[in-house]
Amino acid sequence: MATRTVNDREATAARLLQSSLDHSYEPAIDIDWAAPLVEGLWGLPERRSSLYGTELWEGLTEEQRRTLTFHEVCSIARIGLWFEIILMQMLLRYAYDRDPRRAHIQYALTEIADECRHSTMFAKMCSAYGVPDYAPRPLTHELGRLFKTIGYGPAMFGGTLFVEEILDQMQRECMRDETVQPLTRMVNKIHVTEEARHVRYAREELLRIMPKTDRKQKMIARFLLARIAYLVARNLVHPDVYAAVGIDPKAGHRAALANPHWQETLRWSARKLVPFLREQELIGGTWEFLWRRGYLV
Ligand SMILES: [Fe+2]
Ligand SMILES: [Fe+2]
Repeated sequence: MATRTVNDREATAARLLQSSLDHSYEPAIDIDWAAPLVEGLWGLPERRSSLYGTELWEGLTEEQRRTLTFHEVCSIARIGLWFEIILMQMLLRYAYDRDPRRAHIQYALTEIADECRHSTMFAKMCSAYGVPDYAPRPLTHELGRLFKTIGYGPAMFGGTLFVEEILDQMQRECMRDETVQPLTRMVNKIHVTEEARHVRYAREELLRIMPKTDRKQKMIARFLLARIAYLVARNLVHPDVYAAVGIDPKAGHRAALANPHWQETLRWSARKLVPFLREQELIGGTWEFLWRRGYLV
């Protein structure tokens, strides 16, 4: 395994706590929730739609294509929200067992507070766009319940990093795109700003714990992480979004999975993270096929 120097845990946490004070948002106040939507703008960038370039896409009017992107951006936010609730519970369990005077634990508590505001913000965006609740399907929901109960150490920080980094890639691009609704862009800007700290926290924590992780624990972490990555990739766009534009959900879902543009978007979103997780021996071996099947490698 390549060796990297890792910063002192308390020093990093102190910096992250200061940065949280300097650059945090209160979405309830910092977003103008009453502002009307802008005519002609998209929910997310057109080329990032899961159907972009497919035959089904060709059959939609411009208006329907735009409508679909509102449902897609909300579905992606909803998966983010699902995982944030899982993460909040894992971080709470982590803090429960540790000395709260440490900056490291105070930062974990700060991150929970961030995620709490994010989940409310994502929920408000889904209401503002008037879409149904695209909650993950029952099996995913129940697997999430299991993960939040047993996830710890490498699987907890690796899973967190996975969800945070793929959302970061998509949201970073989206927040700069002038064809996208100001509401999506502001939600993404807030999320990208605050998540940069979470990514730092999780990355450094992984660098610290991996050298102390034995072979058996690594195997379990590789399995849990591959499962989470696959589930998230498959559920990013809920099949029911297609019904909003008159497409059968099963047919839409099938077309999206076979769509080279969408597969490329998934790989692109994971491209920075995959080499890091590989280096940490958290991708590879038996369960790598799940990463491939999720179009993540
Ligand atoms: Fe978040
Ligand atoms: Fe986060």
